[in-house]
Amino acid sequence: MSSTDQRLERIVAPVKEGLSRMREVLVGQILESSNAVSDMTGHVQRFRGKQLRGALVLLSGDATGNSTDEHPSVAAIVEMIHLATLVHDDVLDGARTRRRVASVNQRWDNQTAVLLGDFLYARAFALSADLSSRLASRLLAETTRRLCVGEIEQSTKRFDFELTQATYESIAGAKTATLYSAACELGARYPGGREDLGKELAQFGYEIGLAFQIVDDCLDVVGDAEVVGKPVGNDVEDGKITLPVLWTYARADETRRARMRDIYTTVGLEGRRLEGLKSVCDLQGGVEYSMERATELVDRARARLGLLEAGPARDGLAELAAFVLERRW
Ligand code: FPP
Ligand code: MG
Repeated sequence: MSSTDQRLERIVAPVKEGLSRMREVLVGQILESSNAVSDMTGHVQRFRGKQLRGALVLLSGDATGNSTDEHPSVAAIVEMIHLATLVHDDVLDGARTRRRVASVNQRWDNQTAVLLGDFLYARAFALSADLSSRLASRLLAETTRRLCVGEIEQSTKRFDFELTQATYESIAGAKTATLYSAACELGARYPGGREDLGKELAQFGYEIGLAFQIVDDCLDVVGDAEVVGKPVGNDVEDGKITLPVLWTYARADETRRARMRDIYTTVGLEGRRLEGLKSVCDLQGGVEYSMERATELVDRARARLGLLEAGPARDGLAELAAFVLERRW
């Protein structure tokens, strides 16, 4: 086990039992008699990853004294929605690997991946409809709406170098931070009431989720593909102008700007665009700026935890927030 895995295991230790219950629920929910489907659900579990969102539901529940028997199911629902979005996202991005294994679209094909994502999403909502409160269904339906809007907005802004940091952040916030936010809010509020506390934890989740996406975008330009578990440079290949790039572009002269734009669009550069981008500009300043912004968000998020009672779950939330900045995969 790597030192990062060990660190993560320590962070989520206060909710260890809830997490193993969450995993049982998740596996039970995606069982299917069709051999084809079970091959695929077995496959996607290999890229289930860090399960940070599920852990956030449970840690937020414990840290606010709000844990119920249904929290592990709520955590499983959040993780299933997350899995569904990854399967769909890899179709949209034409990604071939995720967490060192073939994406569903690569191993099977796009049609199958779209249907499998729908299957996972349907299972998530079937489980949420069985819960005693409608809060999870309501909040997660709204979250998925925002997430889809974020993806659509991102799609319309491809190759748009006039993108502002505010628009970049609103897209990253919608596509990634909203699910973090919902995870924390549900942990603190499920099955209902406690709106003020819920709002504060929702904001905590949003800030660390946005920081997570900014770090993800930095790793895509400076990460090590081996460590990240997927090829780097995908965002440049896909025409996504991320924060380190837009910061660099905004400070470049017109000659360099034109060369940066060309790298994104020139036919024949496929698969070599990041290398090309690095040959026409230095992205280091943009990465440093982006990491500072992510750090500011994490600091702001951690400060919110002051209103919770001290204890292992609150410490877990604070450390998970810090972990978002340290992760390299
Ligand atoms: C990752 O971004 C993408 C997301 C966090 C959200 C993707 C959501 C959808 C495709 C909508 C799915 C809708 C339903 C109903 C399931 P990224 O591509 O920057 O990150 P990556 O490097 O992990 O691919
Ligand atoms: Mg992607």
